[in-house]
Amino acid sequence: MKITFCCSDTKPEPWLDGLSAALPDAQVSLWQPGAPPADYAVVWAPPQAFFDEQPQLRAIFNTGAGVDALMKLNLPAGVPVIRLDDAGMSVQMAEYVCHALIRHFREFDGYEADMALGQWSYRKPRDRAEFPVGILGLGVLGERVARAVAQFDFPVNGWSRSPKPLVGVKCFAGTDQLPAFLAASKVLVCLLPLTSETRDIMNHQNLSHLQAGGYVINVARGGNLVDDDLLALLDSGHLAGATLDVFRTEPLPPEHAFWQHPKICLTPHTSARTLRSESIGQIAQKMAALQRGESVAGVVDRGQGY
Ligand code: NAP
Ligand code: GLV
Repeated sequence: MKITFCCSDTKPEPWLDGLSAALPDAQVSLWQPGAPPADYAVVWAPPQAFFDEQPQLRAIFNTGAGVDALMKLNLPAGVPVIRLDDAGMSVQMAEYVCHALIRHFREFDGYEADMALGQWSYRKPRDRAEFPVGILGLGVLGERVARAVAQFDFPVNGWSRSPKPLVGVKCFAGTDQLPAFLAASKVLVCLLPLTSETRDIMNHQNLSHLQAGGYVINVARGGNLVDDDLLALLDSGHLAGATLDVFRTEPLPPEHAFWQHPKICLTPHTSARTLRSESIGQIAQKMAALQRGESVAGVVDRGQGY
């Protein structure tokens, strides 16, 4: 079996070595233009030329959870696209979201600023019942985040395409229930895939439905959020702040208004990193299963785009 590897922004050698070690019978190589056809592709944001030159692929493995970069390409028909299915990401996402939520709720950002000025001062404790957390997307990551947030006794709402019965989470589903979900939430966490249906979903109209003093945590994709609408609602005071990990253009351009905004906390697309050894283990197991003719989890519904 031949595996071709093509991941932008990734040092290839450890992946090539790891895949070879996990699948000793496979021939693993780094893709370059003109490379011979392979059976399996392991990719992250490859160029269109990659697929144009790989006519014999049996499956495409994405080294991340989100497949939006792949869905923009002209992919070979009928070839399954398999995304990372947790592989160590959900616990990282739970840490990140709980950290951002608690930092805001407990006003640790304010305490940091006070202490930096030598000020020993107290803020009035806030009532977590007044900080219902709404999670857009209740998939592999969203569900884990919902459970983690619920552990801290915040009221939790969740929204997905299909109804989800999750204990301890008030679940909403479908476009019709989106306004009610937003109106029931003060802190909004986005864990949706970027598709034609979810692009720009955090826009002025939808963000205005959040309870006054709302807070936005975007850990999905920059394209889920309309930047100017967020800025307008922060400046009007309807929103109290935001923690943003993902951006329409990455790296975030130096002139972007987010950099200097006092109510926005930024990180460089790092909320849930691809962990190499967990990911190689998962991909290798699935390749072996496909070779045996078995089905695997994490196959993308190309019609839905995630
Ligand atoms: P997933 O398991 O596919 O879950 C996606 C969730 O979104 C599902 O609950 C799905 O509903 C819901 N959804 C999709 N389209 C919808 C729509 N039109 N209306 C309502 N709900 C919709 O994906 P995941 O593994 O949790 O990952 C989610 C996203 O996180 C990825 O696509 C990626 O963009 C992002 N991500 C970011 C980082 C980072 O470091 N910042 C890391 C990893 C992933 P159903 O359950 O009904 O299908
Ligand atoms: C990262 O953003 C991923 O989709 O895995």
